[in-house]
Amino acid sequence: MNIREYKKRQKNLLKAIGLNSAAIIPTATEKTRNRDADFPFRPDSDFRYITGFNEPESVAVFIPGRLSGQKTSQKASQRKGQYVLFCRESDPLMEIWNGRREGIEGATNNYQVDEVFPISQLDEILPTLLENVERVYYSIGYDESFDKRLMEWVNKVRKKARTGILAPQEFHSLDHIIHEMRLIKSDTEVKIIREACKISAKAHIKAMQACKPGIREYAVEAELNHTFTAHGCPAAYTSIVGSGENGCILHYTENNAVLKDGDLLLIDAGAELDCYASDITRTFPVNGKYSPEQKIIYEIVLAAQLAAIKKIKPGNHWNQPHETAVKVLTKGLLDIGLLKGDLNKLVKDQAYNQFYMHRTGHWLGMDVHDVGDYRTKGKWRKFEQGMVLTVEPGLYIAANAKGVAKKWWDIGVRIEDDILVTKTGYDILSKDTPKTVDEIEIVMQKML
Ligand code: GLY
Ligand code: MN
Ligand code: MN
Repeated sequence: MNIREYKKRQKNLLKAIGLNSAAIIPTATEKTRNRDADFPFRPDSDFRYITGFNEPESVAVFIPGRLSGQKTSQKASQRKGQYVLFCRESDPLMEIWNGRREGIEGATNNYQVDEVFPISQLDEILPTLLENVERVYYSIGYDESFDKRLMEWVNKVRKKARTGILAPQEFHSLDHIIHEMRLIKSDTEVKIIREACKISAKAHIKAMQACKPGIREYAVEAELNHTFTAHGCPAAYTSIVGSGENGCILHYTENNAVLKDGDLLLIDAGAELDCYASDITRTFPVNGKYSPEQKIIYEIVLAAQLAAIKKIKPGNHWNQPHETAVKVLTKGLLDIGLLKGDLNKLVKDQAYNQFYMHRTGHWLGMDVHDVGDYRTKGKWRKFEQGMVLTVEPGLYIAANAKGVAKKWWDIGVRIEDDILVTKTGYDILSKDTPKTVDEIEIVMQKML
């Protein structure tokens, strides 16, 4: 992403916290998988959003109005030193073992940081940055050991009270400020999510075409991963590849059962591009042709999804797509006799919960379940241009479901797309993924 975009975000952050404040943003810590083997490193989303910096062991500090070299004679227009980064130093030996590092010079030049210090000097230098700062902005509670270090740094400043140095007096949550910024996506961010969706669409099509009775769920997952990796993307979250009864387990990730002729396969998978997620679900028949019962359930879910998507436009509120989806799902269940009674009463009593037990979507962005409030001032939040969300209704009819004829058993269907709120309505970013019964059956006829 263009450095200008990061500079803009940094400027907004500096403005939001104001003078006499400091914001401290550490990136994620590396996690051990098992002895000597780490999980692939993924930067913390807030840190990455503000800095664009990808290396572990990094901490960004923003101090509005801080003068370069503390020269108080400098004019405001010449002020520098507001953005400080701690990162790993270049180390030729370590770089031979573990890969390249930006080092102090790379971070300064490539990321336009005002002042870069080695991470090894964090405990020594960071407390000096907090001297005479009134307010500290920090996202507490995510990293216990970092929380503790921050308290130690503050105590170090407090000990200097008799020399006339003031220690921070107020502690503010930083996440809310950054999360509100992240909720509204810029054109560049939308472009990346759209591209991630296009890669995911290719992956879903490849999976549809590789699918056949007798192979394992993980063999289909391999097709998804092949497409993701071929485009330089990790999966944004662990792919769900659930056939038959496994399609009714909402967070199924074992992905090891044999695909059976006559079953459905539910795939919930999305590529992550440049730290932005896509999140797409499709449900299709293992043998390429929906059975009459599968088709009936599929069409109900599809109708619910299309009706829910239509509710997305600036001015409408967050819960409208969900309210619409549950109404259409309940009506469908009533029509086929899986629910009985009055439509409005069934909706009010949430009778659909037996077959639809999750909500209809979430914000999408750098995190798959992205940040941003869903309610403001006690009311559901209104949609605004630039928000991105998923719409993902489903119906899950487990075997032995109470009062349900056997012909419906093990039909688990979810349909999920990624939607941008536009000036007047919506844009389906994941529209390249086949979705109607006809589209899917045609795509599946084309063998790999
Ligand atoms: N893939 C996670 C979700 O759909 O929310
Ligand atoms: Mn989702
Ligand atoms: Mn999903």
